[in-house]
Amino acid sequence: MITISIITVFPQLHESFISLSLLGKAQEKGLLKINLIRFSDFVAPKERIDQQLCGPGAGMILKPEVVEKALNYCITTYGNGFKIFFSPQGIVITQPVVKLLAEKLFSTESTLSCPTGSTLRQAESELGIGLQSSLEAKQDLHIMLVCPRYEGMDARVEQKYADAVISIGDYVLMGGDLPAQVLLEALLRYVPGVVGNTESVEADSFTGPLLDHPAYTLPATWHEQEIPAIVRSGNHEAIAQWRQEQACKKTILQRFDWFRAAQPSKELCNEASKTIPPHYVILMHDQVKLPDGTTGTSSVTSIDIHDTARSCATYGIENFFLVTPLVDQLSIVETFLSFWHSERGKKYNPSRFKAVSRVRTEISLARALASIEAETGKKPIIITTSAKTMSHATTIDYHSQETIWVQKRPVVFIFGTAQGLADEVVNQSDYLLLPITGMTDYNHLSVRSAMAIILDRWLGLQPKLPKNLIQ
Ligand SMILES: C[S@@+](CC[C@H](N)C(=O)[O-])C[C@H]1O[C@@H](n2cnc3c(N)ncnc32)[C@H](O)[C@@H]1O
Repeated sequence: MITISIITVFPQLHESFISLSLLGKAQEKGLLKINLIRFSDFVAPKERIDQQLCGPGAGMILKPEVVEKALNYCITTYGNGFKIFFSPQGIVITQPVVKLLAEKLFSTESTLSCPTGSTLRQAESELGIGLQSSLEAKQDLHIMLVCPRYEGMDARVEQKYADAVISIGDYVLMGGDLPAQVLLEALLRYVPGVVGNTESVEADSFTGPLLDHPAYTLPATWHEQEIPAIVRSGNHEAIAQWRQEQACKKTILQRFDWFRAAQPSKELCNEASKTIPPHYVILMHDQVKLPDGTTGTSSVTSIDIHDTARSCATYGIENFFLVTPLVDQLSIVETFLSFWHSERGKKYNPSRFKAVSRVRTEISLARALASIEAETGKKPIIITTSAKTMSHATTIDYHSQETIWVQKRPVVFIFGTAQGLADEVVNQSDYLLLPITGMTDYNHLSVRSAMAIILDRWLGLQPKLPKNLIQ
């Protein structure tokens, strides 16, 4: 039996929440017992439960002794347990965080795999998390949810009592009651018997790298929209594959941030790359700003070719175009490339061959763009890059992949050598990417470094491990 004590200013807020639907049924089945505890029951009649913030500033804070008395009452009555506080400053709950918390609270042996692909116990040691001794007797679990209101909790109470401090998102509510309900809705889905179909819990959005697939019910035609024929085909294998493709498409075009953070497998990455439009990189040795303020050409360097080719291969760039109108420079580059494009180059260093075989040369930007259009059959979206912002350009940030990718056109990043791209190049682009900046005044990255950073921010996987939940 799991006992849950919700300690609150307003128990009425929780009455229908706990008595209806799956929580009501779980209590009827004897799986759960939910108690509502009122802070005001721990002060004398007419005494306030809150008082003024100490120091300058407005706001009322719950008295620490009131919270302590309420907690002690719960402990004495229902046994010690796991104390969860709510604060916008706490660990933001996501499905992996909920799952890890559920593992800690509800299972003695880890059976679910955590997002790292390891078991919970491995994850615990990886993350340096230890199980609370009070939780080892799982059969009599007591969870206390402390829901402040007003300006919140005296910082010392949280420090002394909280086993975990949870936020439900980066916004501020008037109290911890809705956060407590949100957490319960998420957490109790992992208690066997609370949700009818536990299979669906493991297949839902955010349990892995993908969002759930689109779901339908009858009628087959609704407002002139049909259920896709395959869904009604009866072919389970084909339906499963279709669902996986749809889920993958939807995730890439709506929540690439989630996908890239959730450690997708190689197979999923291959599937995802069918939705991500082809990307190209152009490195300009023409139409660049020179130190004297004019626009002109710059010299090609072989290290740029090697390093950019390797970055482009890492992030799946179709082709890297090196643009120079200077015939003698072009001929040096082509001699160099002919080695790397040859069988001898392949034998000499196969991985370098793989990278450098994506490199192409062109004598102008217009010709490079025309080849991309000819190969893909679509006008590319042009994204220029600069170390400075420019007020006349449409600026995008590093989180705008979905906006670009839904347009279903090839994407070209243009980089400048020398002092950067001439204004005429930026002016003909669709977007200018925000400059890369550190927290210092120094702003002179090499084009190779800038390119690697930009490709990683735009296309790289960014694995995120759940944070240590326990205080
Ligand atoms: C008005 S808020 C206090 C905000 C606090 N002064 C701050 O800026 O961090 C009052 C209470 O509502 C709850 N609360 C508000 N937003 C929340 C969120 N995003 N997640 C969890 N709890 C939240 C917390 O319990 C908080 O103590």
